[in-house]
Amino acid sequence: MEVQESSLKPCPPLIVVTNIEVTDGKYKELIDSLPKEERFPPGLRKYKGFWQFQNAIPGVLAMKEDFKPRCDDVIVSSFPKSGTTWLKALTFTIMHRDKYTFSSHPLLKLNPHDCVPFIELHYSLKNEQYLETLPSPRVLGTHVPYSLLSDSIKTSTCPIIHICRDPKDVIVSFWHMSAKFDWLMEPLSFKQTYELFCEGRVPTGPVWDNVLEYYTKSLSSPKKILIIKYAEMLKDPANSVMRIANFIGCPFSKEEMKSGLVEKIAEFCSFNKLKNFDTKQSEGNLKSYYYRKGIVGDWQNYMTPEMANNLDKITKEKLCDSSFTF
Ligand code: A3P
Repeated sequence: MEVQESSLKPCPPLIVVTNIEVTDGKYKELIDSLPKEERFPPGLRKYKGFWQFQNAIPGVLAMKEDFKPRCDDVIVSSFPKSGTTWLKALTFTIMHRDKYTFSSHPLLKLNPHDCVPFIELHYSLKNEQYLETLPSPRVLGTHVPYSLLSDSIKTSTCPIIHICRDPKDVIVSFWHMSAKFDWLMEPLSFKQTYELFCEGRVPTGPVWDNVLEYYTKSLSSPKKILIIKYAEMLKDPANSVMRIANFIGCPFSKEEMKSGLVEKIAEFCSFNKLKNFDTKQSEGNLKSYYYRKGIVGDWQNYMTPEMANNLDKITKEKLCDSSFTF
């Protein structure tokens, strides 16, 4: 199949929602009544325990009220900067391995966020009909915490894969990303970003609560939610490819395994491959926003040992009632 035949289209980065003016009176009144965090430009509000860019809240609420998954959808969820782009690429490639060959694959031209669009982005843009134009089976993405997902997602059979990452590396990745959007928001210093993270006052945060909701649900509904850790995926990508395939109900056949398809998919979606695909048309100059270093432990180059210990201590405290570790 040719790439051009795909109905997938380039989507703007999710962060553009920070720039959307809220005109709907219903949402405006609600947003104005919510606790506010002004240190995080262009302004966060706390809704039902989670901080969000205030201009993103209408999209999140509209998605909660309106979005109905198809029974064969797969949803990829994450806290921002936890490896979303990578997981989207892998899940899409695994799901559509019979449809697209590596030589004419949509990911050669399109960013993973185009192949796996964020549901809330399209609700924010009032363009949710676009999601309906995508052929089944769809892979869709979200940063929305579990408790704010629509009931129809929660009660449907569609599986959710949630990727998480050491908050120390998330902070570093987040800080680099936000600096790239100085046309949208005033850049924060690393120290300011760190402090806001420690307080949980970051978009879709606190990070611990975000992952814990998905983790807790995965314990009671292991067929509904799979938790994948960035560090584990980096250590053994082929194993993650198999886990994802089994979880979404399209396990690899013996012949596929013998042919090395698992390893080929892991390689096709590796950092260096994704970073070097010619996706200029869909990404513009945002490549470095999606792909930076792609390693574990880069926090050591940005945090003092005191900062790291302090954050580890907070993380431990926040997770203390659960068996979860990052
Ligand atoms: P760094 O900034 O630490 O390099 P998200 O997709 O959730 O925004 O996460 C972005 C992080 O995932 C970035 O981390 C990015 O480099 C990393 N990443 C993207 N694609 C990757 C891949 N194929 N393998 C490993 N890491 C990847």
